[in-house]
Amino acid sequence: MSDTNEPIGAATVVVVSGGSRGLGLAIVSDILASGASVAAFARTLTPELTALASAHPDRVHVASVDATDRHAVAAFLKAAEARLGPIDALVNNAAVGQDSLHVHTSPDDIARIIETNLTAPLLLARAVLRRILAKGNRGRIVMVTSVCAQRGYSGLVAYSATKGGLDSAMRTLAREMHGRALVNSVAPGFFASEMSSVLGQTQLDTITRRTPSGRLVEPENIVPIVHTLLFDDTNLNGQVITVDGGASI
Ligand SMILES: NC(=O)c1ccc[n+]([C@@H]2O[C@H](COP(=O)([O-])OP(=O)(O)OC[C@H]3O[C@@H](n4cnc5c(N)ncnc54)[C@H](OP(=O)(O)O)[C@@H]3O)[C@@H](O)[C@H]2O)c1
Repeated sequence: MSDTNEPIGAATVVVVSGGSRGLGLAIVSDILASGASVAAFARTLTPELTALASAHPDRVHVASVDATDRHAVAAFLKAAEARLGPIDALVNNAAVGQDSLHVHTSPDDIARIIETNLTAPLLLARAVLRRILAKGNRGRIVMVTSVCAQRGYSGLVAYSATKGGLDSAMRTLAREMHGRALVNSVAPGFFASEMSSVLGQTQLDTITRRTPSGRLVEPENIVPIVHTLLFDDTNLNGQVITVDGGASI
């Protein structure tokens, strides 16, 4: 077992949920560029993720997995570890969005959002941490949450609840792991992706106008923060790092 007085080393094998497109795919590319290995899944594999796997067969493991299917997730982690070696980090990125007032959101949709965005990430973090602890290793966990956890936005009640829940769990997990893992959240503001494509140009213009930095967030602004939380000796632990150009201040 490693000495807990020492800094937790850089991640070497990182699991990325929802690594097929958008921010998740950008994070997968950055992890590869840094020399580490990556195990990424989504329900549907994209040509971009498949191409990365073909280009780096020794450092990438990908599969089509639904995050809410705990047996499929367990099999994925086992296969990833057999191929890449011991997993020591997780980026909990997969999530589904929402674009409906709470009173118009069906109970089934509320349940689906909570299962995908809160229950599944908690179970995935548990599974990864159990593997890290069983091997006497130490690790890093990054939750991708949202400014919606900190400020109110119409049409995102259940979604905001899941992101706030994940931030709260992150803080408690950081304390509970007591030096066995650094656990943090990255909370982006709105950025262009399939998830945010429901926003019209008028809404995007309004968000930009209300953003002190004068520009909308891009995945390229978020990736370096995730990178730092995975690879650098920062001693950041239990923190939510908001990347939104100051829109929420
Ligand atoms: N875009 C924004 O404005 C914004 C703002 C703040 C925070 N965020 C957060 O940033 C993260 C990435 O969002 P994004 O904008 O890049 O979204 P995106 O383009 O919609 O990508 C979401 C990813 O998650 C996967 N996913 C969704 N449900 C899944 C499931 N049940 N099982 C496995 N994979 C699943 C998707 O693939 P499949 O659909 O094929 O499964 C995809 O790979 C999310 O946590 C989101 O909440 C986004």
